[in-house]
Amino acid sequence: MDTRQVIDALNKAVALEHAACIQYKQHALLARGLWRKVYSEFFMSESRAAQEHAAKFGQKIVALGGMPTVEVGATIRQSLDLEEMLRQDLGLERAAMQAYLEAHKLAADDVALTNMLEDHIEGEQRDIEELELCLDMVATGAVAPEVNLRVV
Ligand SMILES: [Fe+2]
Repeated sequence: MDTRQVIDALNKAVALEHAACIQYKQHALLARGLWRKVYSEFFMSESRAAQEHAAKFGQKIVALGGMPTVEVGATIRQSLDLEEMLRQDLGLERAAMQAYLEAHKLAADDVALTNMLEDHIEGEQRDIEELELCLDMVATGAVAPEVNLRVV
């Protein structure tokens, strides 16, 4: 494993988590309308999660002998429209996923780091799927619009 390259890849993910932390928090503050309560709490909890992810991998970077970045890895996007906010957040989550996958590729023979990243990638994927479901981007033919449940 090239430690330098791994640290750079992890720092890219950390910088994107910093951006996600700020963007989600801004969306929590700006959410308005009938769904404000639901989405404001959702965005705030995602902001905290992004902060924790940045700290978790920042600590790993220090353990590898590197310096965790304090950069913000993307332009913060904001909107007053909930759907637009969700699309902006999905974009950031997908960018972070790419950074984690890149780090995973580079970490090949470091079992602990590979395992850490695989666990983390699984969680990030769930966040992406949740956003896709909120945006109704998942098409399924499995559920008919009308379902009759049989009484047994
Ligand atoms: Fe994350």
